[in-house]
Amino acid sequence: MTQPVSLRFTETDLDALPGQEGRLAVVVSPDGKLSAPARRVNKLTKGALVRLTGSARWSKVKEGEVITLAFPQGLAAEALDVVVLSRKPERALLRRTGAALGKLLGEEGMLVLTGNLKGAEDLALGLKLRAYEYDAQKTTKASPKGAVTIMGSDLPEAAAVDALAEGVFFTRDLVNAPANILTTQSFADQLEELSALGVEVEVLEEPDLEKLGMGALLAVGKASEMPSKVVVMQWKGGADEAPLALIGKGVVFDTGGISIKPVGGMEDMTMDMGGAGTVAGTMKTLALRGAKANVVGLVGLVENTLAGNAYRPGDALTTMKGDTVEVITTDAEGRLVLCDVMWYAQERFKPAGMVDLATLTGAVIIALGHEMTGTWSNDDAFCGKFLKAAEAEGEGAWRMPLAAGYDAQLKSRISDMKNVGGRPAGSITAAQFLKRFVKDETPWIHLDIAGTAMVKAGTDLAPGGATGWGVLALNRLVADSFEV
Ligand code: BES
Ligand code: MN
Ligand code: ZN
Repeated sequence: MTQPVSLRFTETDLDALPGQEGRLAVVVSPDGKLSAPARRVNKLTKGALVRLTGSARWSKVKEGEVITLAFPQGLAAEALDVVVLSRKPERALLRRTGAALGKLLGEEGMLVLTGNLKGAEDLALGLKLRAYEYDAQKTTKASPKGAVTIMGSDLPEAAAVDALAEGVFFTRDLVNAPANILTTQSFADQLEELSALGVEVEVLEEPDLEKLGMGALLAVGKASEMPSKVVVMQWKGGADEAPLALIGKGVVFDTGGISIKPVGGMEDMTMDMGGAGTVAGTMKTLALRGAKANVVGLVGLVENTLAGNAYRPGDALTTMKGDTVEVITTDAEGRLVLCDVMWYAQERFKPAGMVDLATLTGAVIIALGHEMTGTWSNDDAFCGKFLKAAEAEGEGAWRMPLAAGYDAQLKSRISDMKNVGGRPAGSITAAQFLKRFVKDETPWIHLDIAGTAMVKAGTDLAPGGATGWGVLALNRLVADSFEV
């Protein structure tokens, strides 16, 4: 796995400043008032900071900016990064500013002087998250990033920041990995490694899934050389209350099947296991921080491809629930995987809440772009808690409607339902399909992350590629609403 940069928080030691190699970063408030460490840096650099804060440039600075002074005299460091932040910035600003430092971090490491800044953990998290780079398939590896030391009066636990970063990185590594590397088998193997952290992991194989009657999930994976699997990950950090269930779509590659996708962009369908990747990363974070809650993660791992034995348009499938589905297109496969895993999760665990995540529809990208995850729910209170958690983490989520009129689009002549509802409201009819597999008593949230799991241009906190969207929001949902 891609390792987050090593980080420690320590008391300020002004004698360490002149000899620090690599980069030295110092927080200066926009009013130009220098903290004790900033005053020392100013003195060592023969007034460089006062020159900056007295300049016309400074009169235009914005909070969160980083102004680099290269090869400052009086310091061994190759650069002095002046970080413009007031004493108590908002979380999102702290993370974005940390990310700006993460972009600058090189092999020689960085010492960050935060003075009396509040929220050093968010600065550190932003720095770590942005310093991620996926180079597993390159022969020339990115040069390793040096260690980061944060000196200040606010000294959080470095391990708490790491639990978050490692969960997000697990998700990103899984989502970035191509399908010849991340097979259903190697995915399951990586999930089994979570048992070292105290997660109970079980892998259900095809014969198990047949016994359970998962006719929809098995149909999707039938043509693949890769065996279909369902992996169950239980984190039992709570008392004996019912767990929160997290369900993920894990299509390791989506060709579309017989209803094959066009050539252009098909290579991006390596990310079609993004829902399962997010569930995996969240379980890792929960385990690393020892969350005092019961959470079970279930992922359906399949490949949707073509062969003579592939499922086909017109086929009548029988789901584990017993409802039958007329396949209109084999490219609407995610819902067929999810419906069986969701039903199994409810039958076995009677969860107190269920959240499913999936790169489910192109239509959600048309609706919300890459900024917001489409969010559907049958429970206003549960949904409200999730949206609040997502907002607090700066992960965009926007609630979308469910209604009987949309459900009617799924009516089939020969089976209980079709697997698609036509072009209008494509992401909503997908949610309506899933809703048919949610029991009345289960509070449920559906997250369509097709637009947010992977962003070509990158985001504030991630370089281009997998974002890890959702790990932080789900972790916060657990912390705020499911921990004792
Ligand atoms: N995996 C795709 C959805 C997707 C599209 C994810 C773009 C990420 C980026 C899904 O299985 C799919 O093919 N959906 C179809 C549904 C349609 C056939 C009703 C789609 O969105 O075109
Ligand atoms: Mn598809
Ligand atoms: Zn898909």
